[in-house]
Amino acid sequence: MLVEGVAHRAVEWHQGSGCVCWIDQRLLPFRFEKTFTQDPEDLAKAIETMAVRGAPTIGAAAAYGLALAGSFDRSCFFKYWLPRFRRTRPTAVNLFHACDVLEQAVAEGLSGKQLIELANDYADREVRANRRIGEIMAEYLARGGQRILTHCNAGWLAAVDWGTATAGMYTLHREGERLHVWVDETRPRLQGSRLTAWEMVQEGLSCALLADGAAAWMMSRGEVDAIVVGADRIARNGDVANKIGTYALSLAASEHGIPMYVAAPSSTFDMKLGSGRAIPIEERGEEELLEVEGMDEHGSMRRVRLAAQGIGSCNPAFDVTPFQNVTAIISEQGVFIPDTSERLPADD
Ligand code: MRU
Repeated sequence: MLVEGVAHRAVEWHQGSGCVCWIDQRLLPFRFEKTFTQDPEDLAKAIETMAVRGAPTIGAAAAYGLALAGSFDRSCFFKYWLPRFRRTRPTAVNLFHACDVLEQAVAEGLSGKQLIELANDYADREVRANRRIGEIMAEYLARGGQRILTHCNAGWLAAVDWGTATAGMYTLHREGERLHVWVDETRPRLQGSRLTAWEMVQEGLSCALLADGAAAWMMSRGEVDAIVVGADRIARNGDVANKIGTYALSLAASEHGIPMYVAAPSSTFDMKLGSGRAIPIEERGEEELLEVEGMDEHGSMRRVRLAAQGIGSCNPAFDVTPFQNVTAIISEQGVFIPDTSERLPADD
């Protein structure tokens, strides 16, 4: 997408320097900075520290990191680099999907140049999937001044380009449709306030930030026509892991008869899992909730404490929305309506 008239992806190969580069999302919306590297360890750290984040972007970043690892040091690839990348974050299955793709390519003996081409193809495929999701979503969402609530950042920063949840919104907006976006996830990580808000403003969409706790109330007042979120992992029965707070939104949406759509490429589906019960949920550090980071008037990033001294916190980063609360899952392959008559045995 365009930032001040220049096209960027969240993570990409920079041909001129022979480096992988990514937007450091920890600095947004205050500073737009890209990091360049040829060192796979920098990419592993970027995923761990959430400089790159969002399920498809994590997958593409791992593909590039492992392509670099396989190009420079094949002897350590299987023993060191694959486990190193697989440990970076637990919930988004796209990471493991990308690791599997690169594992097979290195086992087949692809050259360094071919590995980079493969990583480029991987990223391109995700972007094509998002474009298609956007087309389907734009058809699916009734037109005419829709008020759409989205949670966390399932935008282009999270999905290499275009976004998953946002692809339909960007498509409709570029077609001249009027729509309004309620931007959620104001705690614990502020991905809505910091990232989605920045994207929406860049793209010129009508939008406003909504405190997470206000969402159900706005639904009850008839101010929300649809909810559109992304996903980090979708089990075979349609259970959806996504940023913490999604489950609560789904409960309120069910109560008020508001459709709840999930937008995700095929790389987010985990067909090995029968249900969401076995999805690993990342627990993040308690300081994320006890403190907040922002930019002061001198342009320096500062972290300040918010909570009373002496209290700790519990900080699960994701939750699982049961398939019964999902109206439809939209992927590049089509629209899936979770089968609410299905009951899977508690096998995993
Ligand atoms: O912890 P994050 O920021 O990586 O979590 C991201 C999300 O939960 C997104 O909603 C999800 O990855 C959808 S990606 C387009």
